[in-house]
Amino acid sequence: MNNSSLGASNPDPSSAASDLLSERVLVLDFGAQYAQLIARRVRDQNVYCELIRHDVSAEVIMARKPSAIILSGGPASVYEANSPKCDPRIFSLGIPILGICYGMQLASQALGGAVEKCPAREFGRSRLEIASMEKLFAGFPHEIDVWMSHGDQVHALPDDFETLASTSTCPFAAVKHKTLPIYGLQFHPEVSHTALGGTLIHNFLYNIANCEGKWHLSDFAQRSIEQIRSVVGKDRVICGLSGGVDSAVTAALIYKAIGPQLTCILIDNGLLRKDEQAAVISEFTNHFKADLRVVDASNRFLTALAGIRDPQEKRRRIGHAFIDSFKEEAEKINGAKFLAQGTLYPDVIESGAAADGPSATIKLHHNVGGLPEELGFELIEPLRDLFKDEVRKLGVELGLPEHLVWRHPFPGPGLAVRCLGDITKEKLDVLREADAIVVGEIKNANLYRQTSQAFAVLLESQSVGVMGDARTYENAVAVRCVNTDDFMTADWSHLPYDLLARISTRIINEVRGVNRVCYDISSKPPATIEWE
Ligand code: XMP
Repeated sequence: MNNSSLGASNPDPSSAASDLLSERVLVLDFGAQYAQLIARRVRDQNVYCELIRHDVSAEVIMARKPSAIILSGGPASVYEANSPKCDPRIFSLGIPILGICYGMQLASQALGGAVEKCPAREFGRSRLEIASMEKLFAGFPHEIDVWMSHGDQVHALPDDFETLASTSTCPFAAVKHKTLPIYGLQFHPEVSHTALGGTLIHNFLYNIANCEGKWHLSDFAQRSIEQIRSVVGKDRVICGLSGGVDSAVTAALIYKAIGPQLTCILIDNGLLRKDEQAAVISEFTNHFKADLRVVDASNRFLTALAGIRDPQEKRRRIGHAFIDSFKEEAEKINGAKFLAQGTLYPDVIESGAAADGPSATIKLHHNVGGLPEELGFELIEPLRDLFKDEVRKLGVELGLPEHLVWRHPFPGPGLAVRCLGDITKEKLDVLREADAIVVGEIKNANLYRQTSQAFAVLLESQSVGVMGDARTYENAVAVRCVNTDDFMTADWSHLPYDLLARISTRIINEVRGVNRVCYDISSKPPATIEWE
């Protein structure tokens, strides 16, 4: 499958809006847990930012014409033999550099300093005393709280460096080169626990790297629309809709670009939430007047899933049934040349396909990989340079309704991984009702936006209850609600007791066949967000 790569890394020089990417910051990724967060924080300051391998050559870096380079943190120790290093020539390119944690230690070591293990690993908040308010700390108070997470620190500063700030245990918490635009921070400005972290990044970008702030989503949308038009020409594009935000924003963007040349396909696999099919139809036909084909393939999916208990086997069968259904429908659409997918930047990074590749551990993500090559389409992925929060902002900009843009993620296999054990239509119907109550009550309590994912799970176990005067022996439902930034780790949400009580009472009263409700208080790890 060809990739037409409608992404920012392939700007159309004829486009008036391509100027948008003439200013970029490169984050060299040394395997930090927070590397993506750094890139997001830079983009929050209206500067386009890419995450790239730590070991790219100075020539590759120069070719991308960055306004600044940020060296991320990382789990290694710079004094270890095989620790990740950058091309040392980058320190003499004259490009402003900000080293964060490991990145700072690396810069210090490369320029003549010494790094050693701290007497005690430092993890958490520290009080930073700022000695110099110039440029990097412009407008700061004398003291702020910062977030530390390190086992090593700079022990001897290179001669050419001076100290800007320190903590009681870290004498070189913020440093700068005396003549070159090279800065280092032992703490993490990208983490929200660091006070004024955004201001610090802003100061680096604007006071030191002289950025102008050219990255705006409205420009991005305009540029993308121009690119889609020029790549697609008069051909037809097919886009699969799932009801989720990524596919919805992809479709909205392509619709803006080529209107009636877009055909959307919604495969109803019978595993959708309550009223989900109707909601997608109304959003896409009323709001966008897009050509939408809805395929009721629920029988095909339920037949394929009959008697299957193993979660991975469920996923595999759902994947196959989806491809078959999609293919059948796509073949009915004349002249379709392109397939649009809502791949996001984190998927690109995690799949190892980012420009120049990332260095961090690659996690194979559920959502990577798409329809197989035999479909014979060229792939269009207009969101492949965006983070999730940017996709949401873009959705609002494109006029998608807020409730769609802020939807919690919903897994591809849908309710199949929330209906434990074997799957039947009856069990799915029970789950749909319970799930609608969970989500509805969380929305009524105005907590939907403050939680990351909330849903019901239908358990396999039955338990004894008493309803009226009769003894019951019915199903149990678990309520799962989590808070997370990245979905790789998550905390259970501390929902108010009265909300949990309402959810429980309503499910037991209103959903036939359920007589018990439990709240899942496991965090990830060791539990996962889904139950299967
Ligand atoms: P876990 O359960 O692994 O979930 O903690 C992390 C995130 O991934 C979603 N998820 C999936 N998404 N296909 C998907 O498209 C899947 O098979 C799948 N399994 C889990 C889950 O909903 C959560 O957002």
